[in-house]
Amino acid sequence: MDDYRKMYEKSVNPETAEAFWGEQATRFIDWIRPFDTVRMGGFEVGDHAWFVGGQMNVSSSCLDKHLPKLASKPAIVWEADEPGTCETLTYLDVLHGTCRIANALKVTGAAKGDFVTIYMPMMPDTAMAMLACTRIGAPHTVVFAGFTASSLRDRILDSQSKWVLTSDVGKRGSKTIKLKEITDAAVSQCPKVQKIFVFKRTGEEVPTNRDVDVHMDELLPKMRPYCPPTPVAAEDTLFTLYTSGSTGKPKGVAHAAAGYLLQAAMTCLYSFDLRETDVFACVADVGWITGHSYIVYGPLCNGATTVMFESVPTYPDPGRYWDLVDRHGVTVFYTAPTAIRALMAHGEAPVKKYSRASLRILGTVGEPINPEAWRWYYEVVGDKRCSIVDTYWQTETGGHVMTPLPGVTPMKPGSCCLPFFGVVPKVLDSQTGAELRETAVDGVLAFGQSWPGACRTVWGDHERYMNTYLLPYPPNYFTGDGCRRDEDGYFWIMGRIDDVLNTSGHRIGTAEVESALVAHQAVAQAATVGYPHDIKGQGICCYLELTKGYEESPELIKELKGAVRSAIGPFATPDLIIAVPLPKTRSGKIMRRILRKVAAGEESQLGDVTTLADPTVVDALITKVKKVQ
Ligand code: WT7
Repeated sequence: MDDYRKMYEKSVNPETAEAFWGEQATRFIDWIRPFDTVRMGGFEVGDHAWFVGGQMNVSSSCLDKHLPKLASKPAIVWEADEPGTCETLTYLDVLHGTCRIANALKVTGAAKGDFVTIYMPMMPDTAMAMLACTRIGAPHTVVFAGFTASSLRDRILDSQSKWVLTSDVGKRGSKTIKLKEITDAAVSQCPKVQKIFVFKRTGEEVPTNRDVDVHMDELLPKMRPYCPPTPVAAEDTLFTLYTSGSTGKPKGVAHAAAGYLLQAAMTCLYSFDLRETDVFACVADVGWITGHSYIVYGPLCNGATTVMFESVPTYPDPGRYWDLVDRHGVTVFYTAPTAIRALMAHGEAPVKKYSRASLRILGTVGEPINPEAWRWYYEVVGDKRCSIVDTYWQTETGGHVMTPLPGVTPMKPGSCCLPFFGVVPKVLDSQTGAELRETAVDGVLAFGQSWPGACRTVWGDHERYMNTYLLPYPPNYFTGDGCRRDEDGYFWIMGRIDDVLNTSGHRIGTAEVESALVAHQAVAQAATVGYPHDIKGQGICCYLELTKGYEESPELIKELKGAVRSAIGPFATPDLIIAVPLPKTRSGKIMRRILRKVAAGEESQLGDVTTLADPTVVDALITKVKKVQ
């Protein structure tokens, strides 16, 4: 703990921070040209920049850097959806695969600075495709392969991608997802797309368009397995990743090459106490930031062995994770509270069937973990001998910003504990923005100064970046989360305070769900709120007023759930849809506070309802919700 405190102090103190970060940047990154300035700018106008003047290449720092020493070390262990089907790729294999894809991109005309959209399943080609983009300095936009054609289209259009990488199909829990077909549907509305690169997952017949499609299984063997890394500036955009906010349109969160890589690599090393012999399994999807930082960039930059898991925790049975752990000798395991809760429901037997003796550290991410799930993870999965690291961070933070360090920080179930190096958390009064300086306080969580992995802008809309993150409580970065700091200075995240839901660890804007609903002719007006859900953390509850002439029926509700599902993706499917007159103020504003309370079953704490235009709607609302739940 003393070392942590000393290092932390060095990392945030203006007098020592530059030396500290300069040293870390040299330790993790292979510089093609050294940087001149460790950091400049700040949160006032969002010009914070790190390692300025430096040139590097992310794929070199993840692959070439480890050669020849780690050439034959497993870099990626792939566990396919089909139980027992695996593949191991060494560092040299991954470099070769990455270079072939990079060369394939180049011969088709892709160049430095071009955006590439990746819509692929959890297979090694996907990690190599990401690395290949970084090889040629082309920013990537990975779109989770559970998103629908319209979400994919919006992301291709917003990033102005000319190149799209996909595969024939994806596999998850024995289900087949027709990725190529979905890609074709999306691309048919994206006139700027020049080529679709198609990787083979199962090799089944898929629609082909010879003018646009590039079949990677035919092209890659013709490509040279070496491609020189293109130098990029430290501050060049490495990737964008779309995430939901409180307004309708997802934003492209943009990360800078060097700062992001350093954040991913350094947190991976410290938060998981990563060692040479570790087998690291982050069972997220590369379509989310967790997969970017802790399946691909963090582990590989550290020369670790990373596991890519294509399946789901309950296929073919709820012992799948622990089977994976035993067969691959996984030492560090990283998942989300929602998965832990889902597995808890199956009892201890599927866990105890496996030895899990290799496990050393268990991580969680994505949402607050309830102490009950924390204890189950610690006692049942970890046999009380593994450290639990509850890592708090966001798509925007690039990597962990608050986390215990295993074996160092005394743990408290449900708390993400203390800040990571370089991160200055502040608890603010939500109304006045004043910093609450006492130790034990409740408020909104903000960060006082830039850290290397902080996102730099919203792609194409810096104004939106300022309005969302830096202007609500200047000159701080606003997280959107409420938090409590306890008497020991430990942080407890209380969840989003904006109109963003966190359901099964996925972030969904209520406005996105609402716009999918009102696009249906039966819906006149919709309001979406979250409510406590045993497994998902938050469930999605949609209240709506129907258009005249429409009657509520089980068929209609099903159709509306389907409408949200196909507009956003299966993970956004509403749990409850309730047709009811909405509580509105006299000026017509929907009082969401009331809707939230009723959905949570807290109707005794509704507060003041006298400002409602028609207070009688509240009783009708309560009665209706009780019936549906
Ligand atoms: C939001 C960010 C970062 C990868 C996964 C989600 C919530 C995240 C924790 C945690 C409590 C957490 C916050 C945050 N969150 N980790 N350990 N404890 N809450 O990334 O989709 O960008 O969502 O997830 O509310 O703001 P994301």
